[in-house]
Amino acid sequence: MAHVLAFANQKGGVAKTTSTVNLGAALRERGLTVLAVDMDPQGNLTMSQGIDTEGLEKSMYDVLVHRMPITEVIYERELDVAAATIDLAGAEMALSSMIGRERALQRALDAVRKEYDYILIDTPPSLGLLTINALTAAEGVIVPVQCEYLSLRGLLQLERTLDMIRENLNPKVKIKGILPTLFDARTKHGQESVEVLRENFGKLVFDTVVRKTIKFAEAPVIGSSVLKYDPKGRGAEAYRALAREVLNGRSS
Ligand SMILES: Nc1ncnc2c1ncn2[C@@H]1O[C@H](COP(=O)(O)OP(=O)(O)O)[C@@H](O)[C@H]1O
Ligand SMILES: [Mg+2]
Repeated sequence: MAHVLAFANQKGGVAKTTSTVNLGAALRERGLTVLAVDMDPQGNLTMSQGIDTEGLEKSMYDVLVHRMPITEVIYERELDVAAATIDLAGAEMALSSMIGRERALQRALDAVRKEYDYILIDTPPSLGLLTINALTAAEGVIVPVQCEYLSLRGLLQLERTLDMIRENLNPKVKIKGILPTLFDARTKHGQESVEVLRENFGKLVFDTVVRKTIKFAEAPVIGSSVLKYDPKGRGAEAYRALAREVLNGRSS
């Protein structure tokens, strides 16, 4: 049965999508099967695996709202990708009046749990119904945080949402780890941010810290993970290290 991990942080630009793709690629490198589910209407994950979202007729919208089998929107790339298009922006509204609206994704995943070792869910930068669906379907949450502009208040808000999810929808979901990203070792501020995270969240913070490198902006343009684009680079190594931490079964 697949382990299901969601990548969440209501802040945009913290490397949720980048981390979903590259952790997925690192798990693939170890011979594991991975499905990445794009729950963001912006479709960045879908596009970053070289899938043209404009040309897609079916997407996660149909899976969530019309209960179309998820297998119909899965594309085989470096990872298998359940695709999102801008249509997904309408899903929150369409789902809002439905019974079981928070469980649409959990239900959809039942059909593929046996097919994968890991299912990784990318979420939009909000704590709305799409993210709630992801947190309800997941057993673990990876929280990427940008070492610049660190928002502790944002993290507390995410924890409160998780408390609510645990009480009402999914008692077993836990934070698997907080992942410091976009780290710039040259600035004092970057180092202080990691220290503040470790002081406040202790062992919940992964040992892996992902440094800033331009490769992360370049790789998706050619539909590639950083592991494939720059296999020996620091970025690739960081996500391989993260994969080791995830596989070692820390905290959850
Ligand atoms: N380690 C990194 N170094 C440099 N740029 C990065 C890194 N990680 C992500 N990026 C870039 O930062 C931007 C935001 O990342 P993204 O994964 O799209 O964030 P989110 O999904 O949280 O909005 C993207 O342009 C991405 O290419
Ligand atoms: Mg994103």
